[in-house]
Amino acid sequence: MNLRSPLRAAAPALCAFLPAFLPSCRVGPEEVDTVPTPLRVEPHSYANLDKWKTRHLELDLAVDFGQRELEGFATLTIEAQRADAEPLLVLDTRALEILDVACATPAGEFAPGLFRLGRTDAILGTPLYVDLPRGVLRVRVHYRTSPGASGLQWLEPSQTAGGAQPFLFSQSQAIHARSWIPCQDSPAVRATYAAEVATPLGLRAVMSAEQLGFDETKQRWTFRMPQEIPSYLIAIAVGELEFRALGERSGVYAEPSVLERAASELVDTEAMIAAVERLYGPYRWGRYDLLVLPPSFPFGGMENPRLTFATPTILAGDKSLVALIAHELAHSWSGNLVTNASWNDFWLNEGFTVYLEQRIIEAVYGPERSAMETALGMRSLRETVASMTSTPEDTRLQLSLDGRDPDDGMTDIAYEKGAAFLRRLEELVGRQDFDRFLREWFDEHAFQSVNTATFEAFLDERLFRHRRARNGAVDVAAWIHGTGLPEDAPTPRSARLEELERAAASFAAGKLAASDLALDPSQALELLVFLRALPPRTDSTLLAALDQRFSLTSTGNNEILATWLELSIRAPYPPAAEALERFLTTQGRRKYLKPLYAALAETPEGLERARAIYAQAKPLYHGIARGTIEGLLGL
Ligand code: BES
Ligand code: ZN
Repeated sequence: MNLRSPLRAAAPALCAFLPAFLPSCRVGPEEVDTVPTPLRVEPHSYANLDKWKTRHLELDLAVDFGQRELEGFATLTIEAQRADAEPLLVLDTRALEILDVACATPAGEFAPGLFRLGRTDAILGTPLYVDLPRGVLRVRVHYRTSPGASGLQWLEPSQTAGGAQPFLFSQSQAIHARSWIPCQDSPAVRATYAAEVATPLGLRAVMSAEQLGFDETKQRWTFRMPQEIPSYLIAIAVGELEFRALGERSGVYAEPSVLERAASELVDTEAMIAAVERLYGPYRWGRYDLLVLPPSFPFGGMENPRLTFATPTILAGDKSLVALIAHELAHSWSGNLVTNASWNDFWLNEGFTVYLEQRIIEAVYGPERSAMETALGMRSLRETVASMTSTPEDTRLQLSLDGRDPDDGMTDIAYEKGAAFLRRLEELVGRQDFDRFLREWFDEHAFQSVNTATFEAFLDERLFRHRRARNGAVDVAAWIHGTGLPEDAPTPRSARLEELERAAASFAAGKLAASDLALDPSQALELLVFLRALPPRTDSTLLAALDQRFSLTSTGNNEILATWLELSIRAPYPPAAEALERFLTTQGRRKYLKPLYAALAETPEGLERARAIYAQAKPLYHGIARGTIEGLLGL
């Protein structure tokens, strides 16, 4: 795509003619326009990726909990993508204070550079233009983050398990890396990185990288990521953390009081790694560690390479919620190794990952469990598709999120429709051939960023080419580019699953008493399948009977609790009111918050109550979760 717009061309010229001895040039935001959308290489980045690409990033950062800021240097080593690459580097930033920019040739010393910030866009942030004198291949930005950086959450000691030390964690996906690192914040760019992080005494820093060492006198931690990764996978956390090994190459970091519980919940991690390796080839990232975060973490998990970030809400005590670990681990192949080139291709990351997750669960826990988990996913997908009738274009696998927040793509479509499509392909050609095909997909695109068209071509070439008879059996274009859910979407069934769904229907119809339900309360997944199969508005007398039998209001399984509380809001079932408030004010996982606040907001009294709870809980929630909830509550 051609980037030479008159607007863009004008921007560098403003500085290019200033005397070279001026250390820097800061043109006010109003004076420099940004790159118009159609002229951008990638819809969610300002970077001129067709001219320059980052190959390596060095971070040198100090963590200041008092100011809630990171301050330091990001040094980018860049590579021209064409001989006539313009002498201008465009980086993404968001709410960063740029203190200085310096430029150097690979051999040379750093000299002050010319830079200016462009106009701020609500979704994309602010482009940083850096003039590149001839021969410059290294650019060093001295900067400071803002306390409200969208990609960082700073926690008070009271918001941690230990209660004594503060905590910091990042969440860069999709486009939040730019709020703590000036960079080409696009999944199409891959770079290695190295980092030095200075922390306050008594706190430990971890990153999505290999830990090289710790200098005690300087209180500095060093890291390096020798494999090329996209910016959304750069991650950091700082807090009172301890480590416990799970196996030879895996382990878990958590606050001391959580570590024991975390380690026993995650004992199957090594078995999961072995299961994926058997299917899709070697794990290529060295170690696989996990970090269990404080309850504010807005997601279930985040696949930061070498160090999955996970919510503590999965610690149920019975390993019933570890599919999340299978999921994040699977991203070490689908996503981290082979990466969506833009957020429009997000399904290549998440759909593949859900499919792999289901295969891991099947390999480690058996087909019955994976059938149940898959069925839950498909139920959710059908509900999602049904709720999206006014925005049918968002039910396509390949999206067009131009001009929108890429987080809008984080729906069941990318995840569950994507996985259903792969299951359909597997069903068509058989498991053996499909496994080989996927393995080749990962091997041949390892450490690359790819788009949907690349996958379609690979599918044609490698899966369909010698199977002309089968080719017509699945409408690939309908799956990828069509709306809704194709009728041939396969949902694995199992005898137990059907029993549970029948039981739910009979119970809801008043034909089966709670005491007669053949449900083993120690089988969390069965209870979950049963509860999810109940009508959303199940009568409160029925809920009371269930609560009596299974003590649902006091369950320690957060997945069950969230489902139960949603039913209790709609019934309504007042005895669960206190548990609801506790749940909403003690964890900030958006997946749990969203449906509960939405259910509350369905009635005027509920909305009022929701607003009161939110006012109390807000400091705990991450900005990403706040945004979602404020939207729901009209705040
Ligand atoms: N990579 C995602 C999380 C994500 C996606 C963060 C898009 C920001 C933007 C992660 O792998 C994920 O999918 N997490 C899920 C859990 C999973 C079991 C479906 C989550 O957090 O709910
Ligand atoms: Zn995922």
